[in-house]
Amino acid sequence: MKNLLSVLRSDEVAADLIQVIETVINASKEIAFRVRQGALAGVLGSTQDENIQGETQKQLDVISNQLLKDLLLACAPVAALASEEEDSVVAANPEGQYLVAFDPLDGSSNIDINGQIGTIFSIYRALDSVPHNSELQFNQQGTQQVCAGYVLYGPSTLLAITTGKGTRCFTLDSTQGTFLLTADNIQITKDTQEFAINMSNSRFWNDDMHCYIGDLILGETGPRQKRYNMRWNAAMVGDVHRVLTRGGIFLYPSDKRNAKQPAKLRLLYEANPMALLIENAGGKAFSEQQRILAIQPKQLHERVAVILGSANEVDECLGYLQAHPTAY
Ligand code: AHG
Ligand code: MN
Ligand code: MN
Repeated sequence: MKNLLSVLRSDEVAADLIQVIETVINASKEIAFRVRQGALAGVLGSTQDENIQGETQKQLDVISNQLLKDLLLACAPVAALASEEEDSVVAANPEGQYLVAFDPLDGSSNIDINGQIGTIFSIYRALDSVPHNSELQFNQQGTQQVCAGYVLYGPSTLLAITTGKGTRCFTLDSTQGTFLLTADNIQITKDTQEFAINMSNSRFWNDDMHCYIGDLILGETGPRQKRYNMRWNAAMVGDVHRVLTRGGIFLYPSDKRNAKQPAKLRLLYEANPMALLIENAGGKAFSEQQRILAIQPKQLHERVAVILGSANEVDECLGYLQAHPTAY
């Protein structure tokens, strides 16, 4: 079986980018070890603190963020970092050529129940036109990502990654500490009968989203004329991994719960990396108005609606929204 390093080399990924990827992977292996140890490693439970987004931080959010930050700050090709758990940009090496954005621990509500959690990451080239420690460094469209991936801490530890040449999956061989290629050139099925959405928010959705999900639920008796199943992991990494593996549509639409914050998922370190992985596997990834990767970011922690997965099903969903565009 090929290991991650040999695959990156055979794809002719630049040596300094490989160094950045390996650093993220080394941090994630350390996180994986602590996740496996669970209560024995003292990593469960909440802290007394909130992050800039008003979310209570879990111990593992803080530990994972610190591990990634410490290793990446010591990695010479890294110019700056952005993290869900950091208020603003973290300056690294002024001479570095790469930017790394990450969600150190995705699916925080699953930590204490031994459920699926993960780390999501995204790498860009640093801009010469902007100081290396400026937030403006990260105002790049998702199409500019040179690498995106996630590490899923499930029954096995999996890495899904793309550097532009398809989306691949590697499984951590914990006896060797190496990620081995277990799924090459992943292709998401075009059609699906499975959807993922937090149904408890349905009363806050707009009418078009109600109509779309309502038609899925009607199954073979409704206009879609086939029966749909529903799955919800409460961790984007878990849901996106299922979509990559067997198709499906994942939705976190805008809603009316909070007028100041109509969407939940963050563009920089959740939507964009997942969108690149999905598109490079033949799927589609849209906000309600446009392709996620084409969004021009304006703020570090900006949030967007997310609709991604099997191409034909995403098209079907967008058809409902375009029929009655809404102004969220
Ligand atoms: P995080 O734990 O990094 O804050 O992200 C959680 C996100 C995402 O992973 C998941 O899809 C979604 O929040 C779950 O939201 P609900 O609480 O509505 O289920
Ligand atoms: Mn997250
Ligand atoms: Mn998180």
